[in-house]
Amino acid sequence: MKNGSGSQRSIYLPILVVSSVFLFGYFLFNEHVNFISLPFPRLKEPLREPVSNSSNPLVQENAKIVDNEEPQMEGSTADLEKSAKVIQEQESMELLNLEEADEDVVVPPEDCNIFIGEWVLDNLTHPLYKEDECEFLSEEVTCLRNGRMDSLYQNWRWQPRYCHLPKFKAKYLLNKLQGKRLMFVGDSLQHQQWQSLICLVQSAIPPHKKSLMSYSISLTVFKMEEYNATIEFYWAPFLVESNSDDLSNRNGQSDRIIFPESISKHGDNWKNVDYLIFDNYIWWMNSPYTKVSKKRGPLDEGAIAEYDEIELPIAYERALRTWAKWVEKNVNPNKTSVFFNSMSPTHIKSLDWNDPDGIKCANETTPTLNMTKPLEVGTNHQLFEIAVNVTQSMKLPVYFLNVTTLSEYRKDAHTSIYTAVDGKVLSPQQKSDPAKYADCLHWCLPGLPDTWNELLYTRIISNS
Ligand SMILES: *[C@@H]1O[C@H](CO)[C@@H](O)[C@H](O)[C@H]1NC(C)=O
Ligand SMILES: *[C@@H]1O[C@H](CO)[C@@H](O)[C@H](O)[C@H]1NC(C)=O
Ligand SMILES: *[C@@H]1O[C@H](CO)[C@@H](O)[C@H](O)[C@H]1NC(C)=O
Ligand SMILES: *[C@@H]1O[C@H](CO)[C@@H](O)[C@H](O)[C@H]1NC(C)=O
Ligand SMILES: *[C@@H]1O[C@H](CO)[C@@H](O)[C@H](O)[C@H]1NC(C)=O
Ligand SMILES: *[C@@H]1O[C@H](CO)[C@@H](O)[C@H](O)[C@H]1NC(C)=O
Ligand SMILES: *[C@@H]1O[C@H](CO)[C@@H](O)[C@H](O)[C@H]1NC(C)=O
Ligand SMILES: *[C@@H]1O[C@H](CO)[C@@H](O)[C@H](O)[C@H]1NC(C)=O
Repeated sequence: MKNGSGSQRSIYLPILVVSSVFLFGYFLFNEHVNFISLPFPRLKEPLREPVSNSSNPLVQENAKIVDNEEPQMEGSTADLEKSAKVIQEQESMELLNLEEADEDVVVPPEDCNIFIGEWVLDNLTHPLYKEDECEFLSEEVTCLRNGRMDSLYQNWRWQPRYCHLPKFKAKYLLNKLQGKRLMFVGDSLQHQQWQSLICLVQSAIPPHKKSLMSYSISLTVFKMEEYNATIEFYWAPFLVESNSDDLSNRNGQSDRIIFPESISKHGDNWKNVDYLIFDNYIWWMNSPYTKVSKKRGPLDEGAIAEYDEIELPIAYERALRTWAKWVEKNVNPNKTSVFFNSMSPTHIKSLDWNDPDGIKCANETTPTLNMTKPLEVGTNHQLFEIAVNVTQSMKLPVYFLNVTTLSEYRKDAHTSIYTAVDGKVLSPQQKSDPAKYADCLHWCLPGLPDTWNELLYTRIISNS
């Protein structure tokens, strides 16, 4: 299946979809995370759909594959040499640049696809900040402090194949953000990217000139006084309204009931923002059927009690179309730039990267570097395609941050067992049971979400 040609893959698509949904169910059911500070999806009931033998992860995980390939990391010498070469090139470019002068930031040409490329080891420039130098990180993401011994996952830099990413300069970005609001809207993965961006810029702001404020249960704002600028996070795990918007349902334990045609309660908070960055994926992934209220909004009587169950892709597209309509009606493209983050992948089944002895993403310390064949880690390609289709069909330009594939190579970058539950780092007993406790959805910081922000930064500074 992995070698499948295009046509074979489309035949297998429905199986992959069911399989990935099931994996989520299995995984999320066992998860225990602090939902208030890091909202997180879980599954209450097992799936109703029968799952066939072949897509049962338990069956597959227990099956030993005899002729498995060597673990990744082959060709690493060549990779290291290549990255060394790239670093030298960048350094000579750097020499031409005088001190942080704005004019010296070199942006890639418009037609360079920065999402096609490879991971190179570059401990000269990465990580872009140190874990213990950013006070704004939540304990769920501080993997080193939580006991992780290896730190190589912080040293990888995304290298586009046809151009270079500009060096990240906090001051340069802050000047662009002067007098402006930037807002991440979505789920806990957006919450991570929001934390990452704060950490990327905060060292350039003196103490007492930066602060975090909560304006409502859904909106948290990082204020940068000197710049009269904000970096904000708004909680809306389905973008459209749902019963998961409430604090009490953020643990994902209750049934998730969405209102696919209702968005204005959220949208009112997104108006007049200068940079809007959305995501929409992980909360959908607990069932192949989505519970959709028969009423228009959460305030209608019986809104939660009366629902239909409809196929996931259909519900997902309805919600995204509602979002698209809202954006076209309410966003002035002369003022506001709109971004859509493609899905953040998970690494729950180690056979996906040919390691029959692995336990989820636990103990992974290197990315997948052999990119000769596409990686299948259970991403729902149908939802990806719907997101591409919807964003491309909009009258208003939406920049598609295509981070899915590049993140699929980063099995090493998840928080795994080095996370916290209810504000407490996992206990030694919990850590000894990665099958149950490893979080292979979220990412360590510093880490992969910093790269997503480097790509966002590239676009922001290229376009202004
Ligand atoms: C499960 O596997 C067994 C043995 O390979 C097979 O006989 C059976 O038909 C399979 N069931 C399903 C639902 O695929
Ligand atoms: C997203 O990027 C991957 C490579 O990282 C590429 O193969 C794929 O075609 C891109 N998809 C879109 C819709 O841009
Ligand atoms: C960076 O990597 C090189 C080559 O692997 C290694 O020799 C060096 O000690 C590393 N430096 C740091 C600061 O980790
Ligand atoms: C601060 O920024 C807001 C927009 O975010 C703007 O309306 C306001 O006039 C600015 N204030 C100052 C003092 O520049
Ligand atoms: C955006 O700017 C263009 C050109 O300046 C103008 O024609 C258009 O009406 C503006 N659109 C909005 C929604 O303000
Ligand atoms: C994972 O690493 C821990 C220690 O770092 C080790 O005790 C354990 O055996 C490893 N597990 C696997 C499946 O490699
Ligand atoms: C990369 O993977 C392909 C296909 O799995 C394999 O044929 C090739 O030998 C691998 N390359 C390296 C450098 O190991
Ligand atoms: C995306 O759009 C293309 C072209 O309109 C269509 O063929 C395809 O079925 C759409 N994909 C999904 C998942 O809706």
